[in-house]
Amino acid sequence: MAIKTIGVVGAGQMGAGIAQVAAATGRDVILQDIAPEFVERGMATIRGSLDRFVAKGKLPADEAESIRARITPSVEQAPLAKADLIVEAIVENQKIKQELFAELGQLCPPGTILASNTSSISITELGKASGRPAQFIGMHFMNPVPLMELVEVIRGRETSDAACEAVMELAREMGKTPVEANDFPGFVANRILMPMLNEACYALMEGVAEAEAIDTVMKLGMNHPMGPLALADYIGLDTCLSIMEVLHRGFENEKYLPCPLLHEKVAAGHLGRKSGRGFYEYS
Ligand code: CAA
Repeated sequence: MAIKTIGVVGAGQMGAGIAQVAAATGRDVILQDIAPEFVERGMATIRGSLDRFVAKGKLPADEAESIRARITPSVEQAPLAKADLIVEAIVENQKIKQELFAELGQLCPPGTILASNTSSISITELGKASGRPAQFIGMHFMNPVPLMELVEVIRGRETSDAACEAVMELAREMGKTPVEANDFPGFVANRILMPMLNEACYALMEGVAEAEAIDTVMKLGMNHPMGPLALADYIGLDTCLSIMEVLHRGFENEKYLPCPLLHEKVAAGHLGRKSGRGFYEYS
């Protein structure tokens, strides 16, 4: 199953990173989003990341330029029909993702593999919505995509061996280490990470310690590169809340109840870094 052209739907932080590492394999990439300002912001994210690698001497300037040039931004869905694999990285909402995959299932030739970067939603259910469950898979990247080595690969109930092998091989070519997980809510990464971030919210809400102190304990005490509250801000508090809701609904277990403080922050529009304010303020 040769993958020559890759489509990425959603030009946010994750989609831009995925487009960048996909183009770095030498493939042509179509980065699609619904509004010109979204694709422009995605392209700016990619330029910023490539510039950092060039400034540090990790990437020659001409190679950075070729990577950028291989990425074609688009606000139309039609060019995605040329892709052999499409990775979706839009909002973490099952209904919206299902609608998108139903459209992509109609648009693309039967051989095209559809992948979701969902952090928690059932791959089997998304695959069903696409109308091509054998050609459907989870490809879960970590933020920041250009730096993080893991790709969690999730097979739905009907995902074919060929689609899985193609995606595992592509992840390796992107310089990543793919790890297979089964289709449970939150898979492995967020089944373990999110309850920790949620617990940090409870610790803050209950006054166990200030945000900086909670983060310092986890950084210095557990050698985590970022404290849990800073990491939640980095991921996006709306995304963290959506994932906790998927865990809570999926397992029907109160231990996954999202912290009220997380609800409060999201309701106030304090979504973390992307909105300039979450547990911390960002300029
Ligand atoms: N592109 C290129 N370079 C980048 C970059 C990017 N997007 N982001 C950071 N860098 C570079 C910086 O330029 C810097 O380079 P030098 O050290 O050479 O100067 C280096 O990476 C370190 O960056 P910073 O100094 O800004 O900060 P840091 O040392 O704290 O590292 C980090 C940043 C890599 C993000 C690190 O803090 C980290 O690993 N944090 C944890 C990230 C994590 O857990 N991610 C998973 C989140 S969960 C997820 O994504 C899945 C989900 O479903 C929710």
